Amino acid sequence: MDSKLIQKYNIPGPRYTSYPTVPFWDKEGIALADWKKTVVKSFQESNTQEGISLYIHLPFCESLCTFCACHKKITKRHEVEQPYIETVLKEWDLYCDLLNERPKIREIHLGGGTPTFFSSENLTKLIEGIFKRADKFKEFDFSYEGHPNHTSKEQLQVLFDLGANRNSFGIQDYDPVVQKAIHRIQSFEQVQKVHNQSKEIGYQSISHDLIFGLPFQTEESIRDTIKKTVALKPDRIAYYSYAHVPWIKGVGQRGFDENDLPKDKEKRYLYELGKQLFFDNGYVEIGMDHFALPTDTLYKAMESKKLHRNFMGYTAGKTQLMIGLGMSSISDSWYAFAQNEKTIEAYTERVNQGNLPVFRGHLLTNTDLIIRKHILNLMCNLETSWEVGLDTHTRAEIINRLDEMIADNLVEVVGNQIKVKEEGRMFVRNICMAFDLRLVENKPDTRVFSMTI
Ligand SMILES: C[S@@+](CC[C@H](N)C(=O)[O-])C[C@H]1O[C@@H](n2cnc3c(N)ncnc32)[C@H](O)[C@@H]1O
Ligand code: SF4
Repeated sequence: MDSKLIQKYNIPGPRYTSYPTVPFWDKEGIALADWKKTVVKSFQESNTQEGISLYIHLPFCESLCTFCACHKKITKRHEVEQPYIETVLKEWDLYCDLLNERPKIREIHLGGGTPTFFSSENLTKLIEGIFKRADKFKEFDFSYEGHPNHTSKEQLQVLFDLGANRNSFGIQDYDPVVQKAIHRIQSFEQVQKVHNQSKEIGYQSISHDLIFGLPFQTEESIRDTIKKTVALKPDRIAYYSYAHVPWIKGVGQRGFDENDLPKDKEKRYLYELGKQLFFDNGYVEIGMDHFALPTDTLYKAMESKKLHRNFMGYTAGKTQLMIGLGMSSISDSWYAFAQNEKTIEAYTERVNQGNLPVFRGHLLTNTDLIIRKHILNLMCNLETSWEVGLDTHTRAEIINRLDEMIADNLVEVVGNQIKVKEEGRMFVRNICMAFDLRLVENKPDTRVFSMTI
C-alpha cells in the first residue's frame, strides 16, 4: 500500500466499542434515575427473548506491563480479593433489586486486570453469588481473561466447572527484547502449558491476544511470534494495534520511548504480514483486530451477520442489555451507557452506601441510536445501508466526508449500500469517523484517541 495513504489515514480515532464514544458522552452525565429507567426498559424488552450479558471487571495484576492501557491496580496483596468480590456482589444485588424477574444470563465475561489473580475459592464465591439471583439463558457463554504466568490448572478446572467455556490469554509477543521493553516476561512453554491444559479440560474456544506496533518489533520477531502462536492453534487470535496513550497511562517504568516504536509504514506492514500468516494457517479475519478458525462461533456469527460489538470487543451472542460490574466497568442498556467509579475506593464507598456506583454516562438521542446502528454494521459486517434512517442532508454530508476514501478505493457507495472494500479493512475506524456526528461537531482540542493504524 502507498505510504502516502497510510500517512494520510493514520490519525487519532476511536475504536468504536460504543457510540457515542466515551469522550463524547454528555458532559452533564446521566441522572441515576434515568439510567435505572433505561435498564428496566431494556430488561423488560429483552430478558425472555435473548437474556442479558454481564461484564465483571477484576482489576488486580501482580506486575505492571508498561504498554497496558487497561484499568488495573498493581498489587501482590491477595487479601484485596475477598472485599472486592463482596462489593461486586453487593452491586449485583442493587441491580437485581431493580428488576422484576430473575435475569437470564446469556453471557458472562470476566475482564481485567487479571481475573486469574483471584483464587479459585474467590472466583467460585463470585460466580455462585451471581447465580443466587439469576439463571442461565438456554444458550450460555462464559469467558475470562487469563495471564499465562498466573493461571493454574486448578483455576482452569474450577472456572470450567462453574460454566466457563472460553478463555483468552494475553501473549502480546514472544521476543525477549520486546518482552523486556514492555516488562512482560513469559515463555512459550508457559503459554503452551496453560493452553494445553485448557484443551484437556474441554474449553470450547481458546483465544490468544497479540499486539503489533510494540517497541523493537521487527518482521522477523513478528514472524516468530506468529509461528509459535499458530503452532498451538488457538480458536481465536486478537491481533491488536498497539494503542500508544502515554497522556492517559503515563510513562512510568517504561523500558522504551517513542523512537523504539515501529513507524506508520512499518506498523502497517506488521499488520499485513500478520494477516497473511494467519490466512496461510487457516484463519479468517473477523471485523477489526480479530482472526478465528472457521470452526469457531465468532466465524459462524460473522457468516450469519450476527456478530456484535460492545465493550467486551466482538461477541457472537448479542444482547440488548449488558450490565458491567466492578470498578471502571461500563454498562450498556442500548438506550444509555453508564460507567462506574474508576478507583476502588470511590467504587466501594458508593456501593456500600447502597447506590449504583455510576460516575458518568450518556442517554442516547434518536440520532445517536441511528448512527450507533450504522457504526455497528460497519464494525461487524463491513457494510451498512441507508435504510437505517437518516435524513437526506445528513446522508449527503456523510458521503462528502467519505469522498476521499471512495476515491482512494477504501469504501464504495452503491445504491443504498455502503461497503468497506478489502483495501479499506484496516481503515474501518476512519470510515466510521465519517458517520460519527458527535466527533464531527466537536473535534477534540487535545489528544484523546490512539492512532487508527
Ligand atoms: C486486560 S488485558 C489481558 C488480560 C491479562 N491481564 C493479561 O495481560 O494476560 C486484555 C488485552 O488487552 C490488550 N491491550 C492492553 N493494552 C493495550 C494497548 N495499549 N494496545 C493494544 N492492546 C492492548 C492486550 O493484548 C491484553 O492481553
Ligand atoms: S496487560 Fe494484563 S497483566 Fe499486564 S498490566 Fe495490563 S491487565 Fe495487567
